[in-house]
Amino acid sequence: MIQEKINNIHKELDALSIQSMEQAEEYRIKWLSKKGEISLLFEDFKLVPNDQKKMVGQLLNDLKVKAQTKINEAKEQFEFSHEKNNEQKDLTLPPLPLYANGSKHPISVVKNQIIAIFNKIGFTVSDGKEIEDDWHNFTALNTPENHPARDMQDTFYVNINPEMVLRTQTSSVQVHIMQKHQPPIRTISPGRVYRNEAISARAHCQFHQVEGLYIDEKVSFADLKQTLLYFATEMFGADTKIRLRPSYFPFTEPSAEMDISCTICKGDGCNVCKHTGWVEILGCGMVDPQVLINCGIDEKKHKGFAFGMGIERITMLKYQVKDLRLFFENDIRFLKQFTSA
Ligand code: DAH
Repeated sequence: MIQEKINNIHKELDALSIQSMEQAEEYRIKWLSKKGEISLLFEDFKLVPNDQKKMVGQLLNDLKVKAQTKINEAKEQFEFSHEKNNEQKDLTLPPLPLYANGSKHPISVVKNQIIAIFNKIGFTVSDGKEIEDDWHNFTALNTPENHPARDMQDTFYVNINPEMVLRTQTSSVQVHIMQKHQPPIRTISPGRVYRNEAISARAHCQFHQVEGLYIDEKVSFADLKQTLLYFATEMFGADTKIRLRPSYFPFTEPSAEMDISCTICKGDGCNVCKHTGWVEILGCGMVDPQVLINCGIDEKKHKGFAFGMGIERITMLKYQVKDLRLFFENDIRFLKQFTSA
């Protein structure tokens, strides 16, 4: 009788205590393999009269599930304890750190390199404020209200005081320095700036600049050019070439933009330099006498040069980073690559 056989296996299962992985496998074969006792009962099931099929079928299925559960539970238990026994743990050891060492952010690495390069030729470092008044950020730099050049820099204004802005350029630090110190002045000002730009691989609403300023009695455009050549070769290698193209900034006259020979293809032409052999890295010029006057410096006695560069741009060129957003996402897989820098 099939029901009797089902009952017997139930009893056997209830009494069973599996002692090892091997035993669990033996029982699986005994009951559940193709020729196993429970599997064979499904053959007998075909002979059960139709009116009993529903009831017997239920009993048979319950039995199968019970056997499977018992065997699987035993297997899991032995698997787990097997793993445990094989692990030789010294609980007195200090835990392994997730990442061996922290690392400097690539922007900090390059910022420090820029500072070191300019320190060597006598430039000090000056700090400025990130929330700035309109006058220091624009007006003192020859960019009065309604000046078209304000459009070049999409500004974040501070809601509670429309006179205040998130600085759009570190050039604002120039103004503070000149108000506080008389020449000779030789300083660079690294820091964060903000612009209301849509975020993409090439633009961000926050980034970093370094401003440079040199004011003395005899400063010429040749001094500017030589200083920037020195910087480019220190930063990108001795074979780096520079070229200055005439440009426009409200606070310098004359103004220029500086390109360096492409660091990737060395001037032959590639995607990075858009096949021109040159990449732009900064703006510069001779400080406009009106800016000196605005800041309380005798423009008849003094001259100066200024320059400003984006740290992200320099870093992207130096380390071939293709997407600006990576600098602000703090993805550990990106940051880890700078551990030795
Ligand atoms: N402030 C300019 C900008 O954000 C960069 C710049 C250009 C700074 C020329 C300068 C300069 O000091 O002389 O685009």
